[in-house]
Amino acid sequence: MERTMLGRFGVCCTLLAVALQVCLASVKVTVTPKVEVIKGETANMPCNYTISEASSKVVVQWYIEVAGARKQIAYKSPQGFGVEVGTPLTERLTMGEDLSLSISPVMVEDERSFFCQVTAGPLGVSDAETQVKVFFAPEKPVITDNNQAITVSHDTTSSSEVGKCTSRNAYPQPRIIWFKGDNPLPDEKNQKEKTYMIPSLVKEASGLYTITSTLYMQPVKADAKSVFHCTVEYLMPENKTLHENSDKFNLSLLYSTENVYFEVKNQGPIKEGDDVEMVCETDGNPQPEFEFTKEDSVLSGQKGTLYLKSVTRNDNGTYKCDAQDFDASPDVELTKTLHLSVHYIDPVEVTPKGPLIVSKGDAVELQCKTKSSVTHTLHWIKDSKMLMNSGVLTIQEVTLAQAGVYICVGAVPSVPGLQKQANVTLNVRGKPEIDASGNGLVSKAGEMVTLNCSALGYPSPQFNWNPSGKQSVTVVGNRVISTVTLEATAAVLANGVMCEAYNEHGGNSKNFKVSINKDGGEGQDSNAANRGNPMFKTAEKQQGGSSAVVIAVVVCVLLLLILVALLFFLSKKGKLSCGKKDKKDMASEEVKGGIVVEMKSSEKGNEEAGLLNKPHA
Ligand SMILES: *[C@@H]1O[C@H](CO)[C@@H](O)[C@H](O)[C@H]1NC(C)=O
Ligand SMILES: *[C@@H]1O[C@H](CO)[C@@H](O)[C@H](O)[C@H]1NC(C)=O
Repeated sequence: MERTMLGRFGVCCTLLAVALQVCLASVKVTVTPKVEVIKGETANMPCNYTISEASSKVVVQWYIEVAGARKQIAYKSPQGFGVEVGTPLTERLTMGEDLSLSISPVMVEDERSFFCQVTAGPLGVSDAETQVKVFFAPEKPVITDNNQAITVSHDTTSSSEVGKCTSRNAYPQPRIIWFKGDNPLPDEKNQKEKTYMIPSLVKEASGLYTITSTLYMQPVKADAKSVFHCTVEYLMPENKTLHENSDKFNLSLLYSTENVYFEVKNQGPIKEGDDVEMVCETDGNPQPEFEFTKEDSVLSGQKGTLYLKSVTRNDNGTYKCDAQDFDASPDVELTKTLHLSVHYIDPVEVTPKGPLIVSKGDAVELQCKTKSSVTHTLHWIKDSKMLMNSGVLTIQEVTLAQAGVYICVGAVPSVPGLQKQANVTLNVRGKPEIDASGNGLVSKAGEMVTLNCSALGYPSPQFNWNPSGKQSVTVVGNRVISTVTLEATAAVLANGVMCEAYNEHGGNSKNFKVSINKDGGEGQDSNAANRGNPMFKTAEKQQGGSSAVVIAVVVCVLLLLILVALLFFLSKKGKLSCGKKDKKDMASEEVKGGIVVEMKSSEKGNEEAGLLNKPHA
């Protein structure tokens, strides 16, 4: 029973196996369905197959289709292996041991289907298709025919050619897109539209496409500011869409004037002496000729610019610009005017005219005046100091120090830089006044010392120095300064140096002390500084000296108080009687003769005199 079962089962299995073998006896071919390749590169088309049982009679063939019929281009069979001769592909084809087919370099016409067919005798035949896709990036698009001027007018019905965009050598066929600014223009082929494009396509011998698009438009005035370009859109492997832009370009549009503008280019108010630039412009293109006139006389301008060099008040007035655009519509105002006002200030006049000579103590009144196009100010200045905020300067009692140059400045505050000035010299008669001086310092006797003596006065003071030395004179403002350099002799150290300044009205003198600076090194230094600026030095010295004097006086007063207290104390005790005795003696001596009396009078107040006289008694 078991045996029969097993036998039956075995028969069944064998039958099944045979049936399966017959059913599965097949050939299976696999290829890459789509091969994308750049023109000029290499296309690789693999081909693999599987068969249900090993067979030694397998033939692999690569075909293409030509005019609906298959044409073998390469094969591999047990007998041989090779590329079919005499096809356009022959030279560029190779078939590998692995059955793959390569084309190098790829050409545009290689874009087609390739079939790999495997024949395995009784096991059957099978094939698979590979599509080769060829790509090639175009050249950068080039704009041509964009330079002709286009006249803008409102009643036009036909569009004008704006430019041509050409992109060469693309595969597959690319597309051109036009842009105005950053916005693409809709693709429009209808010539009844205002804006349209006419495309043209050329297939080159290489199989690549050269594409051209000509843009037609009815530009408006605003398009003068627009920038145009085109871009080529093309395909590359892996479904990539790429773009390349042309250069940008402007339209040269011609349009007539609608407005004329005429203005002065200078900033702020204009004053005499300024260069003035007046510019006349229109919103038309190109700019027309301009004619400039002022009160019916024609002025010569240059391309819309009227340039006036160094204007005067005579250039004041109304200027007219005439834009000579004959295409402009009759209601356009082609003439524009402007008013030029040139500000001015007359020379400042000072009365009385200088140079003035007055006497010390006199009253002086100086006046100045001027005229200007708009409100002006006047002020008096001396030695860079503002004295008076008006045109009248009064001095009640003039001093020698008030001599000098008085400047009157006239200015127009509303016109920056517009001002004029005049001056008058005031001389004040009087005998010299020595107004500043300095003592000298040396580090030891016999050194040279320099002293400065500064004096006011008119006529200019002259100087005497005693003792004299090497002298020179400088004038600083209304001061005359005499400088002397001499040896600090013992006599100079003892008596000082006398400076005398004099003129026809009298003289004035002053003694300069020369002292030895005890403080060694520092003294040398301060002495050197002293030569440069004795007056400053003196002030410093005096300040230093005065505190020493105060201390000395305080100490003396204290000592004196102690002494007085001591004397008082002693006299109370009756121990000190010399004073009384002295007076008594003196009185007794008075009667004795003239000599003693004489001594007393000459040494009056000298307590010692009394004491010395004691022996006489
Ligand atoms: C176009 O014109 C404008 C002004 O007229 C100028 O600034 C610009 O540079 C021009 N652009 C090109 C691409 O020529
Ligand atoms: C005073 O006026 C005269 C003549 O205008 C000029 O030469 C001179 O420089 C002026 N002096 C001063 C200090 O302004």
